[in-house]
Amino acid sequence: MIGVLVSGNGTNLQALLDARLPVAAVAANVDCRALARAGEIPTRVFSLHGFPDRERRDAAMADWLAGHGVDLVVCAGYMHLLTAPFLDRFPQRILNVHPSLLPDFPGAHAIDDALAAGAETTGVTVHLVDAGLDTGPVVAREQVPVEPRATLVERIHAVEHRLLPAAAREMLVRERA
Ligand code: GAR
Repeated sequence: MIGVLVSGNGTNLQALLDARLPVAAVAANVDCRALARAGEIPTRVFSLHGFPDRERRDAAMADWLAGHGVDLVVCAGYMHLLTAPFLDRFPQRILNVHPSLLPDFPGAHAIDDALAAGAETTGVTVHLVDAGLDTGPVVAREQVPVEPRATLVERIHAVEHRLLPAAAREMLVRERA
């Protein structure tokens, strides 16, 4: 079962749901629009304000997901780094989607950073999560031409919404084989 971590609009969560992947729980670090997309699926906000430190917040979030049968975590626009108590609970079982060709343009503003750098090509990367900022082994990546700029965000999101569900499905299928 998949647990999805979100912080924003949740269009990638929507893509996972539209792909009929088995999403068992959705957790967020802030109250965000993504949560409304979950429908009947259990959701919970794990705000840093509710915990003495980030490690204990992440441990509680891991407990909650595991309690819902989650064995694959997908970061779908989740904007906090995950700490060891979370990473250690799901070794090699956390995917992230990022709007650049990593290792180029990590961080929260990858599309703007690619534009500011004058890149002609950017893209989307899906990777396994480690303790770094948008680092970890790459599972899938696809190039997206920067021009026409007016539609770049839309085109990147379209690729994300295809690549992320495919990568999650692949991991589920592989573990059943
Ligand atoms: C997506 O573009 C995702 O790749 C990006 O946040 C957006 C979330 O959109 N993630 C990162 O930048 C991670 N460093 P969504 O909330 O509509 O899925």
